[in-house]
Amino acid sequence: MNRISVMGDGLPPPLLELLSPSIDVLPWDVTAASVSLARAAGIITYGHPLVDGPIMDRAPNLKVISNHGVGVDHIDLAAAEARGIPVGNTPGCLDASTADMTMALLLSVARNVVVGDRFARGPEFTHYDPAILIGQEVTGSTLGIIGMGRIGQQVARRARGFDMRVVYHNRRRNAAAEAELGVRYLPFDELLAVSDFISLNCPLTAETTGMISTPQFERMRRSAMLINISRGPVVDGEALYQALWSRRIAAAAIDVTAPEPLPRDHKLLSLDNLIITPHLGSASNRTRQRMIEMTVENLRAGLNGAALPYRIRPAPSG
Ligand code: DGY
Repeated sequence: MNRISVMGDGLPPPLLELLSPSIDVLPWDVTAASVSLARAAGIITYGHPLVDGPIMDRAPNLKVISNHGVGVDHIDLAAAEARGIPVGNTPGCLDASTADMTMALLLSVARNVVVGDRFARGPEFTHYDPAILIGQEVTGSTLGIIGMGRIGQQVARRARGFDMRVVYHNRRRNAAAEAELGVRYLPFDELLAVSDFISLNCPLTAETTGMISTPQFERMRRSAMLINISRGPVVDGEALYQALWSRRIAAAAIDVTAPEPLPRDHKLLSLDNLIITPHLGSASNRTRQRMIEMTVENLRAGLNGAALPYRIRPAPSG
């Protein structure tokens, strides 16, 4: 049997098991002298390594790029399309787990779960005090969702269970979501002004990079709480620091940062009104398993010259 070589880095055992025995995995090596690139018939992007046009050009045998995950901002889709290399990702399977994590962050930041945990373990917790760590009521509050795609819709569905009023902003209005979920479209600035909680559930694109910065924080309520589970660069990190430090907004909970991880001495890490998790959006057992399966399904299809079951193409410009 002819074994096919693909490049991947740090692939977990369940993924490697699905590849064996017919597919060899070469070390991720994109240095100038790389032999791996020349031999690779496929690339698995695991953990967001950059794959751009020049890298593709150094892989003359490349037939497919298979991304473990739905976000593909680290892959130059236009460059791949121009070279006839199909790119696959894992849409759909992680919507529920990412929406669950959005709610986990929202509830945690609203109700001081992380600060409370630290306090409950420390010497200052000597008696029950009804006056401490009074959070913000989630039930009945207004949630502004930026990005009403598949994940945004799942967040809206969950928020309804908390009797939240859900408003949203999206590049295009989503009439189906409005009808099905009772969500209301608002212009961006208006959503910022009325929301108690603002949840970022959009992809990282040229349009969304730096979308939340000082002017946007200025429009938010002082009691507002921001949840970012999309990508770090959607929020300007310095503006976020200033908004939290000066209490221009009350708090934030973020699953993603720029860079990721932040340097260990980064000033955002010193804030007590910020929760940070290490990119756990889709990190649940069932979702991870399905992501692995879809990654391998795309890879195998591409290696065989067949249509990828989950192919992603560059967004049409304009
Ligand atoms: C995604 O699916 O985009 C997650 O961020 C993991 O890569």
